[in-house]
Order: sequence, then structure tokens, then C-alpha cells
Amino acid sequence: MITYNEQNQTFTLYTCNTLYQMKVDHYQVLLHTYYGPRIEECDLSYLIQCADHSFSPNPNETGYDRTYSLDVMPQEYSTCGVGDFRLPSVELELPNGSRSANLRYTGYYLQKGKYTLPELPAFYSGEEDAETLIVCLEDAAAQVTVKLYFGVFEASDLITRAVQIVNQGTETIRLCRCASLCLDLLRTDMDLITFNGHHLMERCLDRAPLRPGIQSVGSIRGASSHQHNPFVILCDHDADEEKGLCYGAMLLYSGNFEAAVECSQYESSRFVMGIHPYHFCWTLAPGESFTSPEAALVCSPCGFAQMSRQFHRTIRNHLLRDPYSHRRKPVLLNSWEATYFDFTADKLVEIAKEASLLGMELFVMDDGWFGSRNDDNSGLGDWRINKTKLPEGLESLVAKINDMDMAFGIWVEPEMVNENSDLYREHPDWVLHIPGRSPARGRGQLVLDFSRKDIRDHIYRQLQAVFSSAPIAYIKWDMNRSLTDVWSAALPAERQGEVYHRYVLGVYDLLERLHHDYPHILIEGCCGGGGRFDGGMLYYTPQIWCSDDSDAVDRLKIQYGTSFCYPPSCMGAHVSAVPNEQNGRITPLETRGVVAMSGAFGYEMDLKKCTKEEKAEIRRQIQLYKTHYDLICQGDYYRLSSPFENPSFTAWEHVSADKREAVVSLIFGNQRPASPFHRLRLKGLDASLQYQVNSGEKLYPGSTLMEAGYPLPPVQKDYQSLQLYLTAGS
Ligand code: DGJ
Repeated sequence: MITYNEQNQTFTLYTCNTLYQMKVDHYQVLLHTYYGPRIEECDLSYLIQCADHSFSPNPNETGYDRTYSLDVMPQEYSTCGVGDFRLPSVELELPNGSRSANLRYTGYYLQKGKYTLPELPAFYSGEEDAETLIVCLEDAAAQVTVKLYFGVFEASDLITRAVQIVNQGTETIRLCRCASLCLDLLRTDMDLITFNGHHLMERCLDRAPLRPGIQSVGSIRGASSHQHNPFVILCDHDADEEKGLCYGAMLLYSGNFEAAVECSQYESSRFVMGIHPYHFCWTLAPGESFTSPEAALVCSPCGFAQMSRQFHRTIRNHLLRDPYSHRRKPVLLNSWEATYFDFTADKLVEIAKEASLLGMELFVMDDGWFGSRNDDNSGLGDWRINKTKLPEGLESLVAKINDMDMAFGIWVEPEMVNENSDLYREHPDWVLHIPGRSPARGRGQLVLDFSRKDIRDHIYRQLQAVFSSAPIAYIKWDMNRSLTDVWSAALPAERQGEVYHRYVLGVYDLLERLHHDYPHILIEGCCGGGGRFDGGMLYYTPQIWCSDDSDAVDRLKIQYGTSFCYPPSCMGAHVSAVPNEQNGRITPLETRGVVAMSGAFGYEMDLKKCTKEEKAEIRRQIQLYKTHYDLICQGDYYRLSSPFENPSFTAWEHVSADKREAVVSLIFGNQRPASPFHRLRLKGLDASLQYQVNSGEKLYPGSTLMEAGYPLPPVQKDYQSLQLYLTAGS
């Protein structure tokens, strides 16, 4: 629910458990007055106290009242250059060379349902699931309107934000910064949690108390990156899974981003999130507008578990556009770690035969099927079948796979080109490059200028020819390097600051075309694993390959960190061979199965090399996954024990909405001599129900399992696993 109280000039956004309030003050400044647990409505601006603070300037219209300063007032969208020295949200460069922004309230609109954003991913809703508030601010001197968009998903405690900047004047101006979200809080006693890493180890949780100054994470790599994720948490120092106030903030954007918190001099904090200002500058001619990517906030008054569940539910129901939203996704076999570039159609068919016999339902031909692609350094850009590897063509291969009752999927990397390709030989000027410099290579490849529609059209025509030539059920869209030499031959000098963002819009454009033209195809995102795992990509690719590290033990950390925002059904997770290709670790096949089946499940190995016993185990795992699919992919997710804190074991749980069913998964650490016995306390059960564990005869009260726990068996080998299936007795 959204209300406007005319007398107090307050806007109040209600969700089931939270309340968010803004107020237009007597200088028409839009203040942020409160965001937190739901409380009785009143004008919360009484919380803001004013005093004369030296060196904090006073807006001209306050006369000689020295107690009012933008430098200390909590604001809904921060300005710059006119008396607030904290993190700015918006920066405008006018024709006279000035750089500032000064905003005053002018009006608002309310709408049923959730707003949409042109060319950008956004949460969606029907008329009944969400409401929209648009608050208009104006910079009179710049003749610019700033529209703040708020989407309220009441049931899931989720509030979305986006911003539109409109040039209402008669001269061209430049927008040098445009955050999606600004959140001013009257406190600094909080921790900042971020999710960081590198290729092969993404989204590892880091937690640190806020300290004076600015703390930030971000990416200037052109993709949201392996290094930092556009999802962060601000929380009470003692917040944990079950208690404490926490704010989760995600940005639905797949390019350069920044998430920064500043603790200011008078113990307030400002959190700003949006497109990274590095090399960002957007020209706005008279009448033109710019729309920021969307950000989404969830405030949980009772810890991380509730916050994650709200994100998971809203992402599943209002962000993903998944052809499998109402049916089970197929269990897949991916060819990459089985063959790398070294395959023929016959070899793939042999592997697929094994996969089909074991119950797999989708065969994915990964990298290596096109152009002259026999290694990293050639072929990208030539999206035509390699006739040496597939002499009878794609249609014939797909027909053979379909005959085995398996669907067929294919890998592409549309944004890239190798110099050794026909495309590059014909159009060497199509890559991102700075005149006079030779562009840096990454994995031996260059980046196509996806800010240009003519280039995207050319690539799309090639892709269409492939995707329409045979019944394709799945596409893996990969991206294997960071952007460098970012300059576009199609834009004038003063517009080069637009290229990074136009590139991302170009990627979204092509993905949207695919979604539109092939709505039945499941698209999996990938960026050397999880280098572009963000809410923006999830709108187009409802699952994303979590990491190129497929080792089950490393995956515990990666999937744990990922789960704070993103639902398990989005996390591409495969069982691969041992010793693991990335780190040489040997883990039991059961353990690899338990870890992978907690996400979008598949295998990535040469099944012909498996023993009879291993095949029997794989068959068992697939059967189990199929049986518990709804629970795993639609149920509520609980983290029971953190791989970052507990060396003895990592555990998690999926619980059905009616709490009558649960699956608990647990992976032990290294075996230790005379290791102690442990008990695991479960979560999310119905305290009043009795549960049967793994079809045993004994019934355990839900309250007992949650408070006293369940005894874990002795550990007999490294990385041993355990799965418990709980069903409520009648
Ligand atoms: C990187 C991906 O993450 C891998 O799964 C695989 O598809 C390779 N690219 C292929 O080049």
C-alpha cells in the first residue's frame, strides 16, 4: 500500500513487515524519514534534529537560518555541489561547464501495478501484486526533471527503485552520474556484507563494520564481474540468519556498477547504488531522457533468512521469465568438461546415449561446434556449423539426440570475435578499440561493439539461422572476457562516455529478441562461470552457470554466498569428474550429487568413463532430484551452517510452503581423528507437526528437530555427505 498524507506531505510505502517513508519539507526538499520494521503511521520527520553545524552550508532560501543544511539532512535522492558533501546520486554538467544538481519536489503520481522500464530488465507484476509511486523533483536552474520510481510488492516486502532524468530545457546537457538508489539512514552502527571473489571463486561473503568514510564495491570491467556482486547487505552488528534488522539491496544491471556506503560526520550513513560513474557521461538533448537500471530493496526485521526468502520468492515470481516456471526443468548433460574442443558428432552421440540411459533429458553441446573453433584463438564470430566436426550438420545431430528422448541445447558467445575468423577478416573495425591503440586480448579474443545495432543485427541473423535450423531447447550464452579499449566508432567524441552502458543495453536487446522469437527456449547465462550473475541477466536468462569451478567443496562457498539474494533454481550446478579439473580435489560422487542437485542440476563429464557403480549412483541421484524437484526449486531455502564459519560441515535445507516436507543436505569437511559427534538444528518446520526422517519409523516433533536437533552420523571419509528427507506424519 502507498499513501500520501497531504497535511504532512509524507509518502508512506507499506509492505507486510516494513514501512518506508519520505517527506516533502518546507523548502520542498524530499527527505527520507524512515525505512524499517512496520510501525504505526505518523510523520516520522520528528526523528530528524537540526542544529547549526559549522562548515555545513545552508541553502540560499533558508535565509540566515544556520540550522538547515543539505549536508546533514537525510534525503531521498542526494544532490551535489550545492551544500551536501556526501555521496551524490546525480551530477549534471550544463553548457556553461558547471557540475551540480539541486532538487526540489514538484508532484507525484500513483499507479496500480508495477512500472516498466524501457530497454531495461525490471521486476514485473499484474495490477494486483504491486503498486507504483512516481515522485517528481526538479532542478529549476538546469531545467531538469528527476522522476523517482518506487514499486511496492507488499506481500514480499520488496521495494524497487529507478530514476528517470528528463532534459526539459532548450540546451543540451550531460548527465555524469545517475544512481538508481539512495538510502539515508540516521545511524552508522551497522555491518556491510559484500560478495566478492575472482574467476573460479565467486560471491564469497565478507562482513565488516561500517567505519568513517566511504566503503564501496563495484566493477569497471563492463560486466557485473566475478570480483564483486551487485548485491549487498547492511545490517545490525549482531544480525544473523534469525535475528537483527537487515537491508538487502540488489541492482538489476549487468555492467559497471558501484555500491557505496558513506558514514558521515554526524553518525548518519548514506548508501548509493547504480551505474559506476567511471567513464559514464550521457548526453541529453532537449526533450531527451535517461533511465537508470532498477534497484530492489528488502528490509527484514528478523535476519538474513527472511530477507533471502523474500528475494527468492519475488525473483522467482516477478523477475524470471522461465519457460519452465510451471514444469520441471530437464536434467542436463553438458559436453564441456567431457570433451572440451575435441569432439565429433559421433562422439557426442555416444556420450548422449549414456546420458539418456541414466535419465538425463537435455544434451548441451558446448563450445567448439562452429567456424574454425578448435581452440581459444579462433572461430568466435562465425556462427556456422563446423562441417569437419559435424559433417551431417546440426539437424541430423539434433535428430539423433531427440531420438534418444533428449532435448538439445547449444553454446554461443555472441559478444565476442577472434581475429582468426571470417567475421573479423571482413569487419576488423567492429571490435571495441581506441584509435591508435591495439586492443588488449582476453582469452585470445576481442569484444564486438554491441553498442551498435548494425553489428548486433548481423550476429543475430547468424544466430537465428542456427536456432531455426533444428529444434533447439536450450541456449548457453557465454561471455569470456572483460571489456577494455572501450570506444565506439559509431559515436562522436562527446558521447564516448555512453559506450559501456550502450553495450549492456545492446546485450539486453539481443537477449530480448531471443526471448521474444524463441519463448520456449531456456537460456542459461554464463560469463566464464559466474562473472555476470546479477538480477539484470536473470530477467533474460532464468538460470546462470554459477562458476567454472565445479568442485563440490569450493561450490559450497560459492552457492552459499549466491543464495543470499538469488534462488537455488537459478544456480547452474553440475556434477563433474574427479580429480576435479580446476583444483584436483577428489570428492565422493554422492557428495557431488548433493551439492549440484541444490541448483539447476546437471552433469558435465564423459559418462563413458563411469563404472557400473557410478552409473547406478548417477541414476539414483537423477531420480531423487526429479522426485524432490518442487521442494528444491520452489521451496523455502534455509542456510543451516556456513562454509565460511564451520569447518566441520556445511548444511542447508529446502522446506515446502506447507512445511510438511523438507530436504536437508549436509557436507562434512575433512575427516578428523576421533572427531566429535554433532547435532544439526533444523529450521522452518512446523513446531507442532511430527516428522518422519528418511522413511524411518520414529517420529520427531518439529519443535524438537528445530530446538534440540538431529544427531549426525560419524564421519568416515573426507567430504562425506548426508541427505535427510522429512515428511510430516498424518
Ligand atoms: C566458459 C564457461 O564457463 C564454460 O562452462 C565453458 O562453456 C567455456 N567457457 C567454453 O569456452
